[in-house]
Amino acid sequence: MTQKELHQQSIDNPEVFWEKQAQRISWYKSPKTILSKDEKGFDRWYADGEINTCYNALDLHVKNGYGEERALSYDSPVTGIKSHYTYRQLLEKVSKLAGGLQSLGVTNGDTVIIYMPMIPEAVMAMLACARIGAVHSVVFGGFASHEVAIRIDDARPKVIITATSGIEVERIVPYKPLLDAAIDEATHKPQNVVVFDRQFGAECSMRKEDIDFSKLIETSGPVDCITVKATDPLYILYTSGTTGTPKGIIRDNGGHAVALHFSMEFIYGMKPGEVFWAASDVGWVVGHSYIVYAPLLYRCTSILFEGKPIKTPDASTFWRVISEHKVNVMFTAPTAIRAIKKEDPEGRYIKDYNVTKTLRHQFLAGERCDAATLKWLQDKLNIPVIDHWWQTESGWAMLATLMGADNPPPIKVGSAGFPVPGYDLHILREDGSKADTDEEGIVCVKLPLPPGCLPSLWQNDLRFLKGYLERFPGYYFSGDGGYSDNDGNVYITGRVDDIINVAGHRLSTAEMEEVVSNHPAISECAVIGAADELKGQIPYALVVLRNESPDKQALKQELIQSVRQQIGPVAAFKTVVIVDRLPKTRSGKIMRKLLRSIVDEEAYTIPATIDDPNIPAEIKQLISIKTS
Ligand code: COA
Ligand code: AMP
Repeated sequence: MTQKELHQQSIDNPEVFWEKQAQRISWYKSPKTILSKDEKGFDRWYADGEINTCYNALDLHVKNGYGEERALSYDSPVTGIKSHYTYRQLLEKVSKLAGGLQSLGVTNGDTVIIYMPMIPEAVMAMLACARIGAVHSVVFGGFASHEVAIRIDDARPKVIITATSGIEVERIVPYKPLLDAAIDEATHKPQNVVVFDRQFGAECSMRKEDIDFSKLIETSGPVDCITVKATDPLYILYTSGTTGTPKGIIRDNGGHAVALHFSMEFIYGMKPGEVFWAASDVGWVVGHSYIVYAPLLYRCTSILFEGKPIKTPDASTFWRVISEHKVNVMFTAPTAIRAIKKEDPEGRYIKDYNVTKTLRHQFLAGERCDAATLKWLQDKLNIPVIDHWWQTESGWAMLATLMGADNPPPIKVGSAGFPVPGYDLHILREDGSKADTDEEGIVCVKLPLPPGCLPSLWQNDLRFLKGYLERFPGYYFSGDGGYSDNDGNVYITGRVDDIINVAGHRLSTAEMEEVVSNHPAISECAVIGAADELKGQIPYALVVLRNESPDKQALKQELIQSVRQQIGPVAAFKTVVIVDRLPKTRSGKIMRKLLRSIVDEEAYTIPATIDDPNIPAEIKQLISIKTS
């Protein structure tokens, strides 16, 4: 069946479509109710189904005779370590770790925060939680203690699992000390912290509530999977919103397993037993879905890569990993390709490795992909390079070209493909009417969202309603702008809100503004995303001082350090521009869109409502600051 046919079926009769897809996975109790409303009126999939995600990811394959196949290959150029786990080996570790967590009192419905680098123990921790019905919340390592503290107070974990350290190229990331600082700051205190000792790096002191990860596995007996409801939460993943507080996206068990399994076959064109590599981090949704759950649910080998596309040791790393591990399908962010292209514009390293001996498709997502990068990669690899669009909220692609469907159409550069089965996607105008072909509008999905998508926000149904469902009644509001062409290809043009995307990392400008405005020298500020050749966007802070500062350079450094210490290095917050005034509307709202256009040197018009006659001079000032 073609993508169009599959999509049509899924929209015409979603319950029949998703009932059939549910048969892909193993249930303790097969669902009879496919789509229903919960007590809050939100759509839920497979409400009466019972399942365990870890069972489907590990036990099932061992039971079916695939225990000796590789589940996970860990490749860490930063430590020089490479190791492999078969399904049987991974199951043994996970079931003992699950037993260890149970011995610490973790039970069904408890939350567990995981703050770890890209090591196999992070994957084990996630699966061990799933095994006993505990809800994990992985926090990306590039976030600072304050961000971890916010998540601790929101998720209220019984246990936190961490490691002593991580490595960022050559810099040691002191995970345990960062976590200790976060726990000290948070109001909620976990009962225990389980620490994986990497035996290098950061000096860490052990506290009385700390437990050694390896000893916990050694001394614990294996436990079986427990039965959970399909609608029980598997995990919470915090992501940036338009306010200073991150939102906890909930993922359930049943819909998630069905959707990811479907996606491996149809979107990525994979076969069980093959090798899949998502070069992301377990702290992001891509890592949750395509490093951990989807490849294992589909009985593939997943690559866990602890390194960067460049500098570990050079721009050949990706191609080495593909060739060494015989990767069939890969997924990365355009930024990574831009970084490689910059170091190796001729693609000489690609030729050194026989990349396409196994690699069939290269998928890109996480940010808008510029045409030059996509064309470069297509030219160098000579295989389909597929841009596809999704969000933490969806958990899997909403737009893609399905490589597992019949006759995938040729890729149109600039487009993220067509709606994926399950997503009734529409481009709406501000007034809710449908945009014409080629007319830019807001990308929305007519409800119900398919299985796998967020059912709500963690302990915040109101924010879920207000943020996603109320803007266009009957539709999910994605926050992205876009348009579709005559053939149905959809083009994503970028966020319509104040979220920015830095090197494929989603960040909130409101959060950065909160940190900057807290500085006593700052009277007001606006943080905007400015276009950047490598990272797509980088944050730019425009600040107005309370009084003339004696040392502007020192002040800028202080602000940069504050954001690094409170949000984390991943914000890549390095530019502060001092201005006399910020352009505002008559109602006092800062004109961010105008500021973005100015900083990006795009064409802009100054609205008639602007009440500051001096703006043109200031605009010139900003441009000259940016280009100087
Ligand atoms: N733990 C701790 N710190 C981290 C981190 C982690 N897991 N990830 C990033 N950081 C830090 C980096 O060390 C860097 O710190 P610095 O300011 O001291 O140099 C900062 O956060 C920014 O990191 P990053 O965004 O990785 O930029 P970079 O300049 O180090 O590298 C690229 C540039 C393009 C190589 C890199 O951004 C990259 O690989 N991007 C692809 C991202 C990706 O795959 N995203 C997946 C989402 S789908
Ligand atoms: P995240 O929730 O971190 O995955 O970030 C989701 C956001 O990243 C989306 O809302 C988009 O703004 C952006 N994004 C992800 N994939 C793409 C893509 N293929 N093209 C354009 N933007 C993308």
